[in-house]
Amino acid sequence: LKAAVSTKSHVNKLAAADAPGHEWYRFVLSYPPHLVRDYVDRFGCNRESQVLDPFGGTGTTLVECKKLGVPAIGVEAHPMAHFAATTKVDWSPDPDELESRAQQIAGEASGEISEQAPLRTLPEKTVDLLLANSISPLPLHKTLILLETIARHGDGCHERLALAKALVTNIGNLRFGPEVGIGPAKEDAPVVQSWLTNVRAMAADLRKLQSLRRTSSTVHHADSRQAVALIQPGSIDAVITSPPYPNEKDYTRTTRLESVILGFLKNKHDLKSLKATLMRSNTRNVFKGDDDDQWVAAHPEIQRLAAAIETRRLELGKTSGFERMYPRVTRLYFGGMARHLEQLKSVLKPGAHLAYVVGDQASYLRIMIRTGQLLADIAQRLGYRVEGIDLFRTRRATATGEQLREEVVVLKWPGR
Ligand SMILES: C[S@@+](CC[C@H](N)C(=O)[O-])C[C@H]1O[C@@H](n2cnc3c(N)ncnc32)[C@H](O)[C@@H]1O
Repeated sequence: LKAAVSTKSHVNKLAAADAPGHEWYRFVLSYPPHLVRDYVDRFGCNRESQVLDPFGGTGTTLVECKKLGVPAIGVEAHPMAHFAATTKVDWSPDPDELESRAQQIAGEASGEISEQAPLRTLPEKTVDLLLANSISPLPLHKTLILLETIARHGDGCHERLALAKALVTNIGNLRFGPEVGIGPAKEDAPVVQSWLTNVRAMAADLRKLQSLRRTSSTVHHADSRQAVALIQPGSIDAVITSPPYPNEKDYTRTTRLESVILGFLKNKHDLKSLKATLMRSNTRNVFKGDDDDQWVAAHPEIQRLAAAIETRRLELGKTSGFERMYPRVTRLYFGGMARHLEQLKSVLKPGAHLAYVVGDQASYLRIMIRTGQLLADIAQRLGYRVEGIDLFRTRRATATGEQLREEVVVLKWPGR
């Protein structure tokens, strides 16, 4: 079931004034910075506070908090997203140096590319991870030369992130709608030029952001369903986050091209290990021994929902392996969220406020999953106070015409 974004598209767009920092690399349909500002304001966060985003993604909460002078910590399990968020809050590079080094790298890489050596490619095991035809041979060849040239000039985090963005926009054959798909093949692409444009935009942003660089921002590479040892107990004033929704979105697919090219995924084993650390929000991500469902074993509404999905499956005679998995992934997803909310308690200050942006879904045989309401109920059973559920935006499910609500579940942790 595909969902179309509603006509209220302004709530999805990144306002031009907000662009610096955020645009370095973003997920399609990430929540907009103004949403973070609204809750920072409402929760009364300031430079003495500590905000946490346990599902940090590409760092919208962190970048916005840093711009507002509010210290923040992120947790993100996906290495590509973790790298993006970490780089997006690193405003230490000198913009002039970044730009002149990029110019030099561009010159060297262009020289090597024009030498017309046999086309470079990746090892077979690595190529197998790419979505078929997601990048054509010549753009791949140019990209690998550019990447090698960047590496010769230092650690190059900003330069590599600029390449990740160029890969999904100008170099590869990807198309986002919002799910990742393959568009027409680009036989050739202006690899070095697109990359250089991105680095220059970063340098321009750094000039605007440098005076704000002292506010601390840290991103941990970890699974938020487990205790994150590096976060100090009782230190968090507010949580502002958007976890995955139970909607079949596979974050390892949407980011596959750049994850593989930048070297975060080298073989099938890497991919499997990564999936094991992610929330069970899609059927490609379920493992035999998974037991997060025990966290919602006594939750009547989740059990009813899983049973309704199974009944619908039998009625419709759907028998594929994925369809059989729908009830289980629903229980595992909400169980994982329950486990996360339980683990989180130890790092929250009494009185901490939390904002969870989640969307209703109907991806499993059109059975409506009211994610926000269910999450609020799970949180309440764990001792959180539900302060409200705000409507953020709506999407129309194209198959049924029904409105899918994207909501902000607002919670308070009263303390033990
Ligand atoms: C909806 S996205 C967050 C988008 C984010 N607001 C942004 O600015 O890009 C959810 C994120 O949660 C991450 N994630 C999934 N399971 C996780 C887990 N168990 N622990 C930490 N992060 C996880 C995904 O990799 C994804 O980046």
